[in-house]
Amino acid sequence: MPTDPTAIPIAALPFPVMLIDDRQIVAALSPSLAAVLGDHVRGRHYINALRQPITLEAIEAAMKTGQPGLTRWLGRDGARDTTWDVHVIPEGRRMVLTFEDRTAAEEVGQFRRDFVANVSHELRTPLTALQGFIETLRGAARNDAVARERFLGIMERETARMTQLVDDLLSLSRVEEGERMRPVQTIALGELVVATLADLEPVIAASGVTVALNDDSAGAMVRGDANQLRQVIGNLIENAIKYGASGGALIIRVDSAMYHRGLRADGVTLHVQDRGPGIAQHHIPRLTERFYRVDTHRSRALGGTGLGLAIVKHIVSRHRGRLLIESTIGQGTTCSVVLPLA
Ligand SMILES: Nc1ncnc2c1ncn2[C@@H]1O[C@H](COP(=O)(O)OP(=O)(O)OP(=O)(O)O)[C@@H](O)[C@H]1O
Ligand SMILES: [Mg+2]
Repeated sequence: MPTDPTAIPIAALPFPVMLIDDRQIVAALSPSLAAVLGDHVRGRHYINALRQPITLEAIEAAMKTGQPGLTRWLGRDGARDTTWDVHVIPEGRRMVLTFEDRTAAEEVGQFRRDFVANVSHELRTPLTALQGFIETLRGAARNDAVARERFLGIMERETARMTQLVDDLLSLSRVEEGERMRPVQTIALGELVVATLADLEPVIAASGVTVALNDDSAGAMVRGDANQLRQVIGNLIENAIKYGASGGALIIRVDSAMYHRGLRADGVTLHVQDRGPGIAQHHIPRLTERFYRVDTHRSRALGGTGLGLAIVKHIVSRHRGRLLIESTIGQGTTCSVVLPLA
């Protein structure tokens, strides 16, 4: 038991808190704060312990005025920047500092800002193009039938691109909304692949690639949402066509049902393999981020917005499945989705 009845049992507190004594030394800190700042700050002057000017200014001000204050402290946890709200509470000639982790909220805010910036940017490009062509059609090209046809063609493509972007965004938000609800249909994955390939027939024919399908699944059923799984299959095949067409052949395989460690259950795997240029290793973990593209110009020219794999990832996660992307430069890419058996 502490002998001083006013002693604050800092070490027992379950949240990050620090006590600065009347000599301005860090007299105590709770275990969770020691984990952030390091144990070595105990016994040091608070200036050495915290270092950051805005935090120190707030402590000095609270000391002078005797009024509590609120400030920020920025930390680092491995590769991640962390943000803390720090309440500074004067206690006579001592100070109590409580730390509140704001990192998650900061990240959400940052994500939202990036997202809005990306969407605006993606919409602005086609809108600027449309505006330019409308002006030209009203002016210089007014009586030029050939130019008019060409410009209308471009305008149609740009409009289609915007529609696609909005459809993808809506589809992403719908998947996210339903992510906690498990799908209820039972679906033969192999059959769904055949049906999706039939839908994509015109795209495949136009691309000139040959598609080989090996279905070993023997009608294995997964629990799923047919529309969403069609999107998964379609997006992977479209990517393989768009970025891997130079390799000529696509190989699509549906494996026989087997145990998967990643699922800790039996599952069926779909592989979509192309022999295209492949993807450099450092890009792979980021491909499922919204709007992430290896080559933005190339993707845009092919009508892409970088949402396809983000949608795939969310759908697969709703289905409690796994997505794996493997690629070797010069040899091609294989995207695999494993889904638990129904
Ligand atoms: N099979 C592949 N081979 C090479 N690169 C690929 C392949 N699949 C995807 N990529 C790369 O990953 C990026 C992200 O793919 P994603 O499907 O998310 O977006 P996108 O195809 O650019 O646009 P969207 O799918 O929205 O039309 C692509 O821009 C491309 O650079
Ligand atoms: Mg795509």
